[in-house]
Amino acid sequence: MRQVSGIDYRVDCEGVTAKALEELFCCAGLEGRAGDKILQAFKNSAVVRFAVAGDHLIGACRAITDGEYHAFVYDVAVDPEYQGRAIGKALMAGVLSELRVWRVMLVADPHVQGFYRQFGFGPYENVLAKCDRQWLFGSWAPSRPVTGVTRTAENSSKPDGGSGPRTPQDALVAELKGLEEEFLVPAVRKSTRLAELLDDEFIEFCSSGHIYTQSDLVAVLQAESPVAQTASNFEVTSLAPDVALLTYTIRRHSDPSVQTLRSSVWRRTNGQWRMVFHQATITPTA
Ligand SMILES: CC(C)(COP(=O)(O)OP(=O)(O)OC[C@H]1O[C@@H](n2cnc3c(N)ncnc32)[C@H](O)[C@@H]1OP(=O)(O)O)[C@@H](O)C(=O)NCCC(=O)NCCS
Repeated sequence: MRQVSGIDYRVDCEGVTAKALEELFCCAGLEGRAGDKILQAFKNSAVVRFAVAGDHLIGACRAITDGEYHAFVYDVAVDPEYQGRAIGKALMAGVLSELRVWRVMLVADPHVQGFYRQFGFGPYENVLAKCDRQWLFGSWAPSRPVTGVTRTAENSSKPDGGSGPRTPQDALVAELKGLEEEFLVPAVRKSTRLAELLDDEFIEFCSSGHIYTQSDLVAVLQAESPVAQTASNFEVTSLAPDVALLTYTIRRHSDPSVQTLRSSVWRRTNGQWRMVFHQATITPTA
């Protein structure tokens, strides 16, 4: 394996910005880590490691622990341009060297489990998790607008996305945005989760002019090579009880990058939101 010189490994958050973390996780394909929330998560962690090349943040990793029995490792990422050069290994080794507890846990997508096995990680039985999506996006002040105005006549959200009590519309925007962003996660695009997100009657009018059904889209996403994408400018309009229109913009970080305007119609059946319609229109390059 090629080792790289000139990498500075850091053990605290000094000089690390929310923007640098956001860019790192975006290019590494780990979604849902943005704004001050991700910086705060690192600051609140007992152990952190960063890899810096020049003034560029190229890797990060963190852990929380009670210092006696348990620890959990999170947010291990290396900039794709620097992957395969032992940087992830160095970050993990640094964090693990400080976790003198009997059980260290982490969650790993199937395609990276091999990376963690070299440190002794393996499948672990009886793990339960409770996930509340509203806190994934909801409790921080974003560095850029991520939830737009909900255009409902009643209970409309604060246009500035300010920090007041969460209204049902705020929660709806956060929930649908979270579901929509799952489509940007490479592992989700290859998984059976797609069939849970896409309604059986799903139809997409693609930017190419093709019309995809649920099974068409699943086949397309599972065959593609992953490309980093970021979504922004989310707006929700309630069309009827349990039916909502979500509009937003996606920038595909290909060369050249491509920006598309997106609209999705989501329908809730038996408490579960599923996408019934999606449309993408390419915008002129800025
Ligand atoms: C997973 C990740 C952190 C690894 O970082 P990296 O710097 O590329 O890895 P390293 O170069 O340090 O690799 C160390 C060793 O792990 C192996 N390895 C790296 N990625 C692997 C993978 N996905 N599966 C199996 N083994 C892997 C390497 O082959 C190397 O083995 P060797 O020491 O025998 O030569 C990096 O690929 C990444 O950021 N991926 C995207 C984000 C992500 O998925 N993070 C994990 C979230 S659970």
